[in-house]
Amino acid sequence: MRHILICGGAGYIGSHMAQYLTERGDSVTVLDNLSTGHRDAIRWGELIEADLLSPESLERAFTGRRFDAVMHFAARSLVGESVSQPYDYYANNVTGTLNLLQAMRRHDVDRIVFSSTAAVFGNPQADVIDEDHPKAPINPYGASKLMAERILADAAAAYGLRSTCLRYFNAAGALPDHGIGEAHACETHLIPNVLRAALGIGSAMRVFGDDYATPDGTCVRDYVHVQDLAQAHALALCYMDDTPGAHAFNLGNGRGFSVREVIAAAGSVSGRSIPFELAERRPGDPASLVASSARAREVLGWQPQWTELAPIIESAWQWHRSPPAWSPQPPAPGMAPAAMDVLPA
Ligand code: UFG
Repeated sequence: MRHILICGGAGYIGSHMAQYLTERGDSVTVLDNLSTGHRDAIRWGELIEADLLSPESLERAFTGRRFDAVMHFAARSLVGESVSQPYDYYANNVTGTLNLLQAMRRHDVDRIVFSSTAAVFGNPQADVIDEDHPKAPINPYGASKLMAERILADAAAAYGLRSTCLRYFNAAGALPDHGIGEAHACETHLIPNVLRAALGIGSAMRVFGDDYATPDGTCVRDYVHVQDLAQAHALALCYMDDTPGAHAFNLGNGRGFSVREVIAAAGSVSGRSIPFELAERRPGDPASLVASSARAREVLGWQPQWTELAPIIESAWQWHRSPPAWSPQPPAPGMAPAAMDVLPA
């Protein structure tokens, strides 16, 4: 049994991590400033309210506690927002990470699993992206994560820090039976927005661009369930026991789905019409992002359990149709609005 500090454990992926580790017998402590996470999503482990930008609060968090490892999910993570607020992104994602690493060093915590992203690669130069693909981020979010990856590599060489960067492609899904799912006050992600449209919440969803060089003109993404991401983190912890150094793995299912295909799949899962309208391209969106996760499978022994799109959407649908009271998602009205454009279910 290990004691893991989950930074950002009140957020979407961090809360699923806490559930996963607890179920397999580890103990967890959550560190979060609750800026975007939710106190009620912390259902496993103690909460330490602390801010990565406050070295003093980090010092208090580490003092008197012994952690075997840190998992670091706390970050600003919206591509578009990063373009308009770059200082916030570099402060939180680079300075915040540096403060965390320094606190770990002071307190002899020598291993970390770091949430990284497909955004470190920038515009893809291959149909399927493996770890050796050039890293040329096209927005401050991706750049901030790549800087943190570089810091981890330097820390491995200088201090012997063990680290694993896990580059998620498109995290999706929920664990409604455990009362956790995607609960953002401001939702920009595709699957939640499609499901809100299915529930008749808000106006029709927008499809950002249908003139990309993809089979149906809409962007293609590789959706991976949060529980499978959690599994990879747990495997990375074991891997680092025997393998010093800084490591990185891409995590996705290796299959791309277009925005239109996601809307159609959500229509089938929900049995509802999904109203949508076409809109301009969203700045910063690559046409297609599909992972090669061969290295994670071979080296970590990662075996995703949610390999089909429909069950991933189904888990999110169960969450969105009856969210807990604390979730900022508005309650579902009974009726969907009149469809502006409806794909067959
Ligand atoms: N999209 C829509 N309408 C919406 C929301 C999204 O058409 O209402 C489209 C986007 O334009 C994009 C696709 O659906 O083409 C997926 O968008 P998401 O916002 O769900 O996810 P992203 O691919 O933008 O973001 C993900 C991760 C980021 C990561 C990024 C790398 O969430 O952390 O991939 O590009 F940085």
